[in-house]
Amino acid sequence: MSEDQTPQILAALRNATESAARAAFEQIGCGRGESVDGAAAHAMSEALARLPFAVRVAVGEGREGEVSDLYDGQIIGGDRRDPQFDLAVDPGEGTTYLADGLSNAMTVLALAPVGAMRVPSPALYMEKFAAPPAAKGQIDPRWPVAEKLAALGKLLGKEIEELTIFVLEKPRHRALIDQILESGAKVTSLPAGDVSGALLSALPHSGVDALMGSGGVREGILSACAARALGAEFQGRIDPQLQSEQAAVKRAGLDITRWIPAEELVTSTDTYFCATGITTGLLLEGVERVEGRDRVQTLKIAGSTGESQLQTTWRRIASNA
Ligand code: FBP
Repeated sequence: MSEDQTPQILAALRNATESAARAAFEQIGCGRGESVDGAAAHAMSEALARLPFAVRVAVGEGREGEVSDLYDGQIIGGDRRDPQFDLAVDPGEGTTYLADGLSNAMTVLALAPVGAMRVPSPALYMEKFAAPPAAKGQIDPRWPVAEKLAALGKLLGKEIEELTIFVLEKPRHRALIDQILESGAKVTSLPAGDVSGALLSALPHSGVDALMGSGGVREGILSACAARALGAEFQGRIDPQLQSEQAAVKRAGLDITRWIPAEELVTSTDTYFCATGITTGLLLEGVERVEGRDRVQTLKIAGSTGESQLQTTWRRIASNA
């Protein structure tokens, strides 16, 4: 795809994430994460079916036969004999918590040229280190936390006390959070949604300087796509959390000690990324419905131009029905 097609591609992707966010919004507080995910995935899939080019689902909702929408390997849109892009999706990033009415849920997708997404299957979890472009390639994620923060502060021209690190609020992160706080930096912690943590650390003036801790591999690939487009730092280390996952990772011979740079997870900078808020979080406003109109907010990023744009749209509800 050429640079001049970027606006059309982003418009089509935005349509898909915004359709999914509206569908998920209907399910807020329903108490069943799978209903939220299902509604969002179905709406996203219907919108993607109208793409003028074909995409191959590289990171989807699950295996064919196990999920009906957006399964791994599915080809959607345009001329299905000739997929142009790999697609990674998370129609309900943070849905488990969203179902209970909590914040920071969004709908996310990314494209990269076909074959560019290298998913370290069967791993499900990875430890992540994300930081702004100024830190790219400058910090070894294996360093002790205090050393990483001291280096990050220098690179960003900040005192350690001025740094804020996004860490998912999980029991597995207690020691990490203690180490960050002991070093003098601050922690922002939410129960779900580490894609927003990676994006906040990549974008200027977000109030977040880095993401640390372990989360999903799927979210890692999505974050790596955004980081590649923005020239930001992202690295991941396979970090199995479940016994079954540990065994599968071992059988597959995956190295759980090595930090994999974004360049290996997504081998192109020519990526597209789109995220729409479902419920309000640190990055995006959630869907709001007032007096027959709804408001959605979408972050669009294109690697071809390095542009990121935050777009807020109000629409008459009847026009989307
Ligand atoms: P959902 O599965 O509810 O969408 O949760 C998303 C998320 O919080 C990701 O942002 C994160 O990478 C992952 O889950 C962490 O998984 P877990 O909650 O199992 O530790």
